[in-house]
Amino acid sequence: MIATTQHILDNSIETDYSKSISIEHRKKFAQFFTPFAIADLMAKWILGNKNLKTILEPAFGLGVFSRAILNNKKDVQVKGFEVDETILNLAKQYFDESKNVNIVLQDYMYNDWKNKYDGIICNPPYFKFHDYDNKNILKEIETNLKCKLNGFTNLYTLFLLKSIHQLRINGRCAYIIPSEFLNSDYGKLVKAYLIKNKTLRHIIVIDFEENVFDDALTTASIILCANDNLTDKVQFSNIQSLDDLGKIENIIANYPDLVNTKQTYHQSELNPVIKWKAYYQNQNSIRFKNLVPFSTYAKVVRGIATGSNEYFTFNLSKAIEFNIDEQYLLPCICSAKDASSTFFTTTNFEALKQNDKAIFLFNAQNSTDENVKKYIQKGERDGIDKRFLTANRTPWYSLENRKPAPIWVSVFNRTGLRFIRNEANISNLTSYHCIYPKPTSLFTEIHIDLLFAYLLTNTAKQIFDDNSRQYGNGLQKFEPNDLNKGMMLDIGLLDKQTANKILSLYKNYKDAILNKKNGEEIIEKIDKILVDKFGDKKNQA
Ligand SMILES: C[S@@+](CC[C@H](N)C(=O)[O-])C[C@H]1O[C@@H](n2cnc3c(N)ncnc32)[C@H](O)[C@@H]1O
Repeated sequence: MIATTQHILDNSIETDYSKSISIEHRKKFAQFFTPFAIADLMAKWILGNKNLKTILEPAFGLGVFSRAILNNKKDVQVKGFEVDETILNLAKQYFDESKNVNIVLQDYMYNDWKNKYDGIICNPPYFKFHDYDNKNILKEIETNLKCKLNGFTNLYTLFLLKSIHQLRINGRCAYIIPSEFLNSDYGKLVKAYLIKNKTLRHIIVIDFEENVFDDALTTASIILCANDNLTDKVQFSNIQSLDDLGKIENIIANYPDLVNTKQTYHQSELNPVIKWKAYYQNQNSIRFKNLVPFSTYAKVVRGIATGSNEYFTFNLSKAIEFNIDEQYLLPCICSAKDASSTFFTTTNFEALKQNDKAIFLFNAQNSTDENVKKYIQKGERDGIDKRFLTANRTPWYSLENRKPAPIWVSVFNRTGLRFIRNEANISNLTSYHCIYPKPTSLFTEIHIDLLFAYLLTNTAKQIFDDNSRQYGNGLQKFEPNDLNKGMMLDIGLLDKQTANKILSLYKNYKDAILNKKNGEEIIEKIDKILVDKFGDKKNQA
């Protein structure tokens, strides 16, 4: 038995455990621990069930949720599941005196399907589809829940669906999970199930400046469900700091009444197919009229993935070392930070080359050159040909066929999307996506400079923001399809005179940037022209 009880109401045992065990071990089992203040709040939702007798903790860890519940109510039976024997043994010591807590060494997803509970509370493991036995677990879920799911589904949502299925009448469920499923493709079927099942009550989106989970790069949501028929409404709330937890406590205490009706929807109003950030985040696009999908004017494709950047990328000295002639090297921007300005020109390319930056890719297909052959053999000796991507190519050292894109866009962003005009006409790796303008009708294509001028404006970035994926710490990520499906102003509707005015401002901007002057004011002028043309007066901020 462990002598002190202070650990019950804080995270000291999780902190001690994390210090005593390797990060690899924690990653293997997805062990990120819930801050006690949040666990306590979620416990309050569970305690709201006046008939609370049985509790399930499907991913027990060190039982932070059970500690929070037992601190308020002793006469409940707790069942916990855990797959890591190390943490389980430690947890058993802490709960040694609690005869009503039963923790078993079993995988939650394959067990306990028949039992129902009054309260289920969990911070499940976050495993992407390739990190767990997704085929069998999906089958298990689909058979038991009689629903269809997407093969890319993250394990945490499967935990949630199973738990909802295990709720008794009037049972309550509280989960803390990444917000990703609310806005991703695989989440559509999960959301459809949640709507159909009618137990969803609150989604609380945590958007702290700091990560909720020490090193998990993600924003989280608290999902509160109730298997009652007290309401058919779902409310979305946002919390920005721990100080906001009081707001949520209030919401929970008042259930089923609503403290306010902001961001509240009938179950039937929720659309599983759209990104649910539309329900909890101000959408920038509503301030504008005449919006079209970005895919109307352009196509976004990810950059070249080599399978081994270390092997395929070259700088000048590496080319000299291995005697590889420049004709077997493809000019390519290999690191996002090597293109720091809005325009990437041949002068920039030459400067990087002279500074011995990695600016080429090994491009040796069909070569009979002896030195090239030797470098290929070296790759085979080093096992580069057995990597996931290279093993699936013929020959293994061939590069993906992508023509240089006239515009690049950064994949990860802290301060908004960054677009770059690739005037050097070179290729790019995956730190940038490629943007190719596309014909809008048989003969017309939007003027690429007009498109680029638009992309430089705040308006363009704000509208794309509606479709971004949020990570923790203010980091934003855009997949190619987030941009393809994102919206833009229909600049094809601009009259010739306005388009020419924008093009002439753009030319001034380019001159300013190439002469190392600040061009922000010029972009603001372009932005103003667009807002005047496309702003929807009734929805302006
Ligand atoms: C994200 S941690 C949460 C721990 C604790 N509940 C908390 O919130 O601090 C998830 C826990 O679930 C365990 N786990 C992982 N896969 C599991 C599975 N399939 N069944 C049961 N437990 C699992 C991990 O070992 C880990 O302790």
